[in-house]
Amino acid sequence: MFSLNPQICWTLSLCLMLTLFPILTRGEETVFDAARISRRLVDSSPDSVGTFATIFPSDHPDLPGEPFSLQQYYASCHTNGSLALLFLPISRHSKNILRSANHSASLSVASPHPAAWKPRVSLIGSVTVFRDVANTPDEDQTASCYLKRHPDAVHWLPKDKHQPHVAYWARFDPYAIYFVGGFGSSHYIGYIPLELYQTALRPESPHDPKSIAGRILIDQTQS
Ligand SMILES: *[C@@H]1O[C@H](CO)[C@@H](O)[C@H](O)[C@H]1NC(C)=O
Ligand SMILES: *[C@@H]1O[C@H](CO)[C@@H](O)[C@H](O)[C@H]1NC(C)=O
Repeated sequence: MFSLNPQICWTLSLCLMLTLFPILTRGEETVFDAARISRRLVDSSPDSVGTFATIFPSDHPDLPGEPFSLQQYYASCHTNGSLALLFLPISRHSKNILRSANHSASLSVASPHPAAWKPRVSLIGSVTVFRDVANTPDEDQTASCYLKRHPDAVHWLPKDKHQPHVAYWARFDPYAIYFVGGFGSSHYIGYIPLELYQTALRPESPHDPKSIAGRILIDQTQS
């Protein structure tokens, strides 16, 4: 008969304890964690390309009221999480947005290598188009912030007379945030209050990551 000697037994249980300890003590992701993780996903996305979703107008001849999604450049240029967009009226998204009552759209951003266990976030918001190009708020800052993320966009800036299409600056203001942190057993899944999202990365944020209920932030964006 096989029997374990006490020495091995003790070593095995110690190993088991050491393995399980971090799992058992790792707190569940809070909504505060979720707010910070999603702001980092959006603001620090290496390509700053999200999946934009809009709805075809109800009188569209072929696809009335149908959903439409396609990649979209954005740049996070506002501390409150609102995003800068280059708005080309010729694009399908732009047409859908202009025809929607609230100029609404949804933008989702995932981790660089998306997987079921990794976080992703969907921002539902409305688009303000600055049709009077000369009076676009903070135009120079917007352009330089946007071009840092998308240098190729230099060829279709609103002020460029030689560019092939009309273009405007626009701002996407999220008003609802839906977050999926990964697997629901240990990650937050659900809505994030707007104010939390808007202030999540402020240095003076009361929800500082290092002090979330004494827990350490599980920073999934790093893994
Ligand atoms: C976000 O900040 C910008 C200024 O940077 C402001 O114009 C915009 O209204 C703000 N959005 C919301 C939803 O508060
Ligand atoms: C319309 O957009 C505003 C922000 O511009 C938002 O606060 C409001 O909830 C939206 N309304 C609807 C019905 O989606």
